[in-house]
Amino acid sequence: MSATSKQSAMTADDIRARKGNQPIVSLTAYTTPMARLMDRHCDFVLVGDSLGMVMHGLPSTLGVTMEMMILHGQAVSRGLDHAMLVIDMPFGSYEEGPQQAFRNAARLMAETGAAAVKLEGGVEMAETIRFLVARGIPVMAHIGLTPQSVNTLGGYKVQGRDEQGDLVLADAQAVADAGAFSVVLEKVPQRLADQITAEVSIPTIGIGASAGCDGQILVVDDMLGFFTAFKAKFVKRYADLGDSAEAAIAEYAAEVRAREFPAAEHVFGDQAPKQSTKK
Ligand code: KIV
Repeated sequence: MSATSKQSAMTADDIRARKGNQPIVSLTAYTTPMARLMDRHCDFVLVGDSLGMVMHGLPSTLGVTMEMMILHGQAVSRGLDHAMLVIDMPFGSYEEGPQQAFRNAARLMAETGAAAVKLEGGVEMAETIRFLVARGIPVMAHIGLTPQSVNTLGGYKVQGRDEQGDLVLADAQAVADAGAFSVVLEKVPQRLADQITAEVSIPTIGIGASAGCDGQILVVDDMLGFFTAFKAKFVKRYADLGDSAEAAIAEYAAEVRAREFPAAEHVFGDQAPKQSTKK
């Protein structure tokens, strides 16, 4: 696929223009069928590096590679016509400096058709964000709980409680000033999320933040009940598809063992069936 030719209906400018307006709807996706299901309902779809845990059984996002992001990014791209495709920069692909970040962001966009990249970090990433934006790469920032820094944050904890709130606010202001078109706020207190939403010029996308954010995002496997290893407080399960899928698999296994499947309607006779003449 000449992925750069992919044109979604939504752009970074459209997302930016939604500041303070109708809430921005977003989910993660990792496959074509799932992307197709959400295309009409979401403003942007994120190929998140959460795919490492959700799709590949990794213990964290740290083992996710550029190749994994590109493979899933291409799959999701094939399922989208309307929603904007945003892709995560994996751990180790941008932190060295602006030039490394540009090289890898450009590769992600060229090989997947993504219209923007997301990267984790606030004040410390402002220079990199400015460099990318000046060279044609729309950037969504991600602050608060940044899972790629789990080893220095001391776990997946709420960020920005008490006096730490000023640091998260400074991060939000730094990424907005650097030219990010929106910012994900993960696992921050509601009051702080509302303050950031009121004070920064770009849309805030909440996950474990506040209904007052300019938009919301969830990991699709969490909200559909496919990923059941654990459930964060901020996840609402809109379905229990994992349970339904396991029940269906158990029923299939029982029918195979009882020789009830395949039944007559699933097997072929020696003669081809007569063609129907009905129009
Ligand atoms: O990787 C991911 O899925 C994310 C979202 C949770 C925002 O970064």
